[in-house]
Amino acid sequence: MSTASGNGFARDFVWGAATASYQIEGAVHEDGRGESVWDRFCAIPGNVRNGDSGENACDFYHRYREDIGLMRELGLDAFRFSIAWPRVLPDGRGAVNEAGLDFYDRLVDELLAHDIEPFPTLFHWDTPQPLEDAGGWPERPTAEAFVAYVEAVVARLGDRIRYWTTHNEPAVVAGNGYGNGDHAPGRRNERDAIAASHHLLLSHGWAAEAIRRAAPDAQVGITLNLFHVYPASGSPEDEAAAWQVDGEANRWFLDPLFSGSYPADLLERNAIVAPLVQDGDLDAIATPLDFLGINNYHRAVVSAAPDGPRGIHDPDAQYTEMGWEVYPDGLYRLLVRVAAEYAPPAIYVMENGAAFPDVRVHDGRVRDPERTAYIASYLESVARAIADGAPVKGYFVWSLLDNFEWAHGYSKRFGIVYVDYPTLERVPKDSFYWYRDFIASRRDLPRLSPIATG
Ligand code: GCO
Repeated sequence: MSTASGNGFARDFVWGAATASYQIEGAVHEDGRGESVWDRFCAIPGNVRNGDSGENACDFYHRYREDIGLMRELGLDAFRFSIAWPRVLPDGRGAVNEAGLDFYDRLVDELLAHDIEPFPTLFHWDTPQPLEDAGGWPERPTAEAFVAYVEAVVARLGDRIRYWTTHNEPAVVAGNGYGNGDHAPGRRNERDAIAASHHLLLSHGWAAEAIRRAAPDAQVGITLNLFHVYPASGSPEDEAAAWQVDGEANRWFLDPLFSGSYPADLLERNAIVAPLVQDGDLDAIATPLDFLGINNYHRAVVSAAPDGPRGIHDPDAQYTEMGWEVYPDGLYRLLVRVAAEYAPPAIYVMENGAAFPDVRVHDGRVRDPERTAYIASYLESVARAIADGAPVKGYFVWSLLDNFEWAHGYSKRFGIVYVDYPTLERVPKDSFYWYRDFIASRRDLPRLSPIATG
């Protein structure tokens, strides 16, 4: 049992920062890495802003030691990164590319040598292109291939990894990758999106079992992007619209993971899923989680409209450069609700942060008071949720570094460290120093101090 300390965070609360392979690594042609759907997608003009790609990104592949130095300076307990499937299995299945695994081996050892807990995610969107060519996530064999990939990774790193995350944001892979085509592989088909969501969840369940077979002491979880949905008014129509959005975004994933069933109110609409669900699938998906990862940035406010639920923009609210509303109470409501309705044994906030138009000023510094205020206010919400019973064990800021923000290319900066892309120089922003001091202040608190209020 952990001891409470100041501002509601236990002394063993995990302070971290998050990243993902394609967004930071670069080195896409090195050491036998195969092609991913994001390499292919970025090469098609019009898909990504400014024609950007992850080809060089932050060059983390070569600069990870320097970046671990930044993590040390921050005082991080943990680092969330993802493993690129095409580095490990260039064809998606078949022969393991040991040189690709060597990179993660070095990375994990370097983290551990600096007392930083590795929190790897096994899939943060870089599907090997050959698997996509064979049909991708709408097809069941992709889920089978994922398990073989996971087995290869765990065989190599399982002796040192205590926390495994299978997937990151299956809703985005399904919805943006296969539904609206905004993300790789850029397909636009509602049926494919629903099929992809089922196979992603199924592969999570199978992979969780495979990890536990190979590493029985490991903690296994999945990370979902969730947001609290507020009806724009108390009218029954707006309430129904909010419930629908909540279903598509949140319950479609939470219900099968925790209760082994898809939400009844969506089954008619998503009828396509029924023939895909084979005997045992829902039991596999509902294999108990050790933790639930939650990514959250904003809430949604929804009203009913003739063509379906509509998101409402509040002219008085603050929005980040992504157009996402700054609304920390939405994270509080989300955490408390997930804890009450689904009872995960532990929750990690795996991503939270904000993009603002940062500039490096004449003295070389990057002043980002909006980002600091954002993180501070969301952390206050996390503390309140803990006080009200949500089992939140850690927080990872998105992101350590400015990086490749998918279809937005490099135009959105989420880092607490500024990256000067032409030189790849790292410049800690003011929010970096704030986060460092905040983490340090949590550690300096006297043992057994009461939970502070306010
Ligand atoms: C996401 C992500 C990150 C994004 C971040 C900001 O999972 O969407 O995990 O890759 O960069 O959320 O949009």
